Amino acid sequence: MLNQKIGLGLVGAGAIGRVHAGNIHEKVPDARLAAVADIDQKAATSIAELNGHAKVYSDYAEMLRDDSVQALILCVPPFLKLEITKKAAQAGKHVFCEKPMALSMQDADEMVSAVDASGIKFQVGYQRRFDPSYLKARWAVETGRLGKLLMIKEHNRDPPAPITGWSTNPKKSGGIFLDTTSHDFDAVRWLAGSEVVRVYAEGDALIYEDLKKNGDYDTVTVMMRLANGALGFVDNCYHTVYGFDGRLEILGSEAAVSTSIGEQTFAHIYTKDGTSNEFFDGYATRWAQAYLDELVDFVQCIITGKEPKATVRDGRAAVEIGLAARASIEQQKPITLPFR
Ligand SMILES: NC(=O)c1ccc[n+]([C@@H]2O[C@H](COP(=O)([O-])OP(=O)(O)OC[C@H]3O[C@@H](n4cnc5c(N)ncnc54)[C@H](O)[C@@H]3O)[C@@H](O)[C@H]2O)c1
Repeated sequence: MLNQKIGLGLVGAGAIGRVHAGNIHEKVPDARLAAVADIDQKAATSIAELNGHAKVYSDYAEMLRDDSVQALILCVPPFLKLEITKKAAQAGKHVFCEKPMALSMQDADEMVSAVDASGIKFQVGYQRRFDPSYLKARWAVETGRLGKLLMIKEHNRDPPAPITGWSTNPKKSGGIFLDTTSHDFDAVRWLAGSEVVRVYAEGDALIYEDLKKNGDYDTVTVMMRLANGALGFVDNCYHTVYGFDGRLEILGSEAAVSTSIGEQTFAHIYTKDGTSNEFFDGYATRWAQAYLDELVDFVQCIITGKEPKATVRDGRAAVEIGLAARASIEQQKPITLPFR
């Protein structure tokens, strides 16, 4: 434990900001929640009050001048991240940035340059890299237990929920491929240890009218070719009636690894109609441990100088694959990377 804890400033006191604030306040060693900034003062105050009475700012730029804040936990809608990251880098504040980090390759490149020029630590919130089951799958690949990689499949399906505000506007969210599927693109690259070189995507808004109106999708499939020769497949859906369903399967020439849907408890109710169990009700419960572990590791990056596990270049790569997937639907053909 350090004498002086690293002061973290949360920017964006919404759904995921609340999860991170709770972890920082109660469970991340060597760090404390120093401040919360949100244009919605009520949201910022309620999170600050619950988590050690952190300072409250309605303008994040003011928080950047606060010496007690050494790093930002950036949980604002995607279209705001470039500007805030550039200002944070200028102020010498490290950044943990929720995905997606950018909405275009130009913005992603600007972020890479800002991070490189300032030397700040920058970590993207790809929490699968910290999930115990995914870490085991990665270990199986790295230790050669699977042999030659043949196929990698990953899916990410959310329970039905109202889609409102910035999430309905792909100009602000990046659309499903950046805002959601980018998790899977990152997982495929990381697990396979190889870059995606071609994508072919299909997608539609089969449930959510607002998404359809705005040119976004709620149900997508993406086929991929990786540089190491393996084939990848990812699907996402925003309407999964049985709960949150994120699963992975990797097939190798010698063995395979798969993760199960997981259950919140080990209790099964057995009735004459069958059994029932409790699947995860959303991302926050499914990835609870990973959300904590990624912040613990981010703080250790600041303290020890080590590299984050999901870097700004990983964030850029996921944005690139997502933009290529969208272009594949629009152009009705496979898209070869690099893509701009
Ligand atoms: N890693 C994950 O699994 C995961 C899960 C959920 C969300 N996210 C990502 O986190 C980000 C936030 O998502 P959310 O669901 O928490 O959104 P949200 O809408 O619930 O919260 C966003 C917050 O940002 C605030 N905000 C808007 N403009 C601001 C500004 N200029 N300065 C300060 N605050 C501002 C809003 O008032 C709101 O409180 C998105 O990029 C989303 O994709 C990641």
